[in-house]
Amino acid sequence: MTSWKDKREFWISGAKVADPEAGKIRAGSVLIQKGMIAGIVWQKSPETELPVFDAGGLVLAPGFIDIHTHLREPGFEDKETIESGTAAAVAGGYTSILCMANTDPVVDDPSVVEYITRRAEESGHCRVYVTGAVTKGLEGREITEFFHLKRSGAVALSDDGKYISDSKVLRAALEYARVLGMPVISHCEDPYLTADSQMNEGFVSTRLGLKGAHSASEEIAIARDIKLAELTGAHLHIAHISTAGGVDLVKKAKKKGIAVTAEVTPHHLTLDETMLETYDRNLKVNPPLRSAADISALKAALRDGTIDCVATDHAPHNEIDKQVEFNFAPPGMLGLQTAFPQLNTELVKNGDIELIDLIRLMTSSPASIMGFPGGRMKQGELADFVLIDPDEEWVFEKQMIRSRSYNSPLIGKKFKGRVKGVFLEGKYLEDVS
Ligand code: DOR
Repeated sequence: MTSWKDKREFWISGAKVADPEAGKIRAGSVLIQKGMIAGIVWQKSPETELPVFDAGGLVLAPGFIDIHTHLREPGFEDKETIESGTAAAVAGGYTSILCMANTDPVVDDPSVVEYITRRAEESGHCRVYVTGAVTKGLEGREITEFFHLKRSGAVALSDDGKYISDSKVLRAALEYARVLGMPVISHCEDPYLTADSQMNEGFVSTRLGLKGAHSASEEIAIARDIKLAELTGAHLHIAHISTAGGVDLVKKAKKKGIAVTAEVTPHHLTLDETMLETYDRNLKVNPPLRSAADISALKAALRDGTIDCVATDHAPHNEIDKQVEFNFAPPGMLGLQTAFPQLNTELVKNGDIELIDLIRLMTSSPASIMGFPGGRMKQGELADFVLIDPDEEWVFEKQMIRSRSYNSPLIGKKFKGRVKGVFLEGKYLEDVS
């Protein structure tokens, strides 16, 4: 794996240091040695002969970790490449991302894992972890060679974008995954109930004349997957949970001690179905944007720990693909560059959660779900950091987008809170914000 390691020994001082595990943001300074955190002192400026990077009062947090990114390479380089996707990642404050398997070819063979790993080493701006497909060609019929995928570097398994409808296939997958200690990430939407759907099913879809996907399509899928997780003892991770009913199921499963974790996207937390009245195709996503009541339940689930982390589901689609009638547009929106400012603006500044909670949901929580290093502010951890100004007001402009695609419904939006810089293994990345 690429090392960005800066061999220098130096201090970052004058920071508000965010420790997501302690749940605190305090004035402090951090000592960096060979790309790792060598020490933290709770004083503004340490007495030292070493070089000092002055953080100027910004918040210094562990680098964000996204466990749900579509990098599109290989196969869809017109939408995104590993180079452009990771450039967007660091611009959004991310230092590690986990990419999904719905490329072309699908990541169902060790050669594709190796290809992505090599391309990430050659052209990536941050650390890239690879998800292997659960089934060959994402067809839901025959499981892939998990052992070989793992040996070649895959860290998780998912057919994301598709639900594995055949319960026997998912059961076998969970059994093998448990033996190998790999999490299975499930895209929970019953395809029979969501066929041809364009948005959430309800009053708004009826008014707009668009076919809806009922929240039951997600709840049924989650319920079955949880049952199979219970049966097999495997770690099931629910991708992009979007419904109040789904949250209830995960809550009950956790109470029973079933090994289930769940992520929520920034868009499902902040955008609702009524916004589709503009027919903006960039608001078309799977699962669809839901109701205000669902959003309230998702926020409550973030607060009570039912939902473990935030993940972007960054899904680039180019303008040619999106500039078609609503029904023909592919689902997905960009997420990496807007995740932090959007959630800081909509959740933190509105008092739904504290800044340190948002930081935890984007750092130590995803790291522990996937067993990744980083994400923690402690000695011996990777010196991956994001510098944040939580109060800066700015407008997200199209020309700021680092992705190859521009499918964000948030272009022109005024945000509060901005990523000001990123360190990767102690190396300060120039030209991030
Ligand atoms: O909206 C989505 N787009 N949801 C997914 O799960 C897949 C993704 C994509 O690959 O475009």
